[in-house]
Amino acid sequence: MKSLNNIFIIVLIAGSLVSCSNDKKPNYQFMPNMYESAAYEAYSEGDIFLDGQSAKKPVEGTIPRGWAPYEYEDSTEGLADARENLKNPLPVTQENLAAGSQLYTFYCAVCHGDKGDGKGILATREKFLGIPSYADAGRVLTEGSIYHVQMYGLNAMGSYTAQTDEKERWQITMHVENLMAELKGIPKKLAIDATTETSEIQVDSVATDSLQTEVEN
Ligand code: HEC
Repeated sequence: MKSLNNIFIIVLIAGSLVSCSNDKKPNYQFMPNMYESAAYEAYSEGDIFLDGQSAKKPVEGTIPRGWAPYEYEDSTEGLADARENLKNPLPVTQENLAAGSQLYTFYCAVCHGDKGDGKGILATREKFLGIPSYADAGRVLTEGSIYHVQMYGLNAMGSYTAQTDEKERWQITMHVENLMAELKGIPKKLAIDATTETSEIQVDSVATDSLQTEVEN
């Protein structure tokens, strides 16, 4: 008799719990602002502007900050045009040359080799074929064309616009020109702020000195 009573009570409690919930009505929302933002979501519907959007699209021709339009086309003609007319806006300084050399090591040397002779590690392991030397007689490389291939890539070589910005691509270009000059045995571009011909070595030792002082401190 006692256990029957217990069963009855349990059924009663369970029944009352179930009957109280109503799945037609939404559940309680604690902190509703977390779910339904008071502010408009970007580009959602809104009644502020005439086109029914909550935000205005940027004016046509708008470019992101730090970007400049690139007017040479991704085509053989575009490459020829860039080779002829596109010029490096950066001055040849120790800083730009050093940055270019470092970026080249990151992004290009795996294929083109540290010296630009086309014997990077991916070339020697035959992962990529047809990587040219910058001194290849069949190629005419200018600052414009070196920049252009970094923008769009060329056949097996990809574009580097995702990894580098405009300034970095020009710094790399300077370094590639110097590698080419070295391979061809023609004069290299010298930094305008270089005091002596051994300035590169001096820059390195300055960098090491300041590192050492940092460590000592
Ligand atoms: C995955 C390997 C690979 C990497 C990494 C690579 N390249 Fe290339 N690059 C190639 C190949 C392959 C070619 C030959 C393309 C062709 O002519 O078909 C080439 C060609 C070139 C040329 C010659 C273009 C011409 O006008 O003939 C230049 C200059 C060049 N690369 C610069 C760079 C620079 C600068 C970087 C780094 C930002 C870079 N490459 C990274 C594979 C690579």
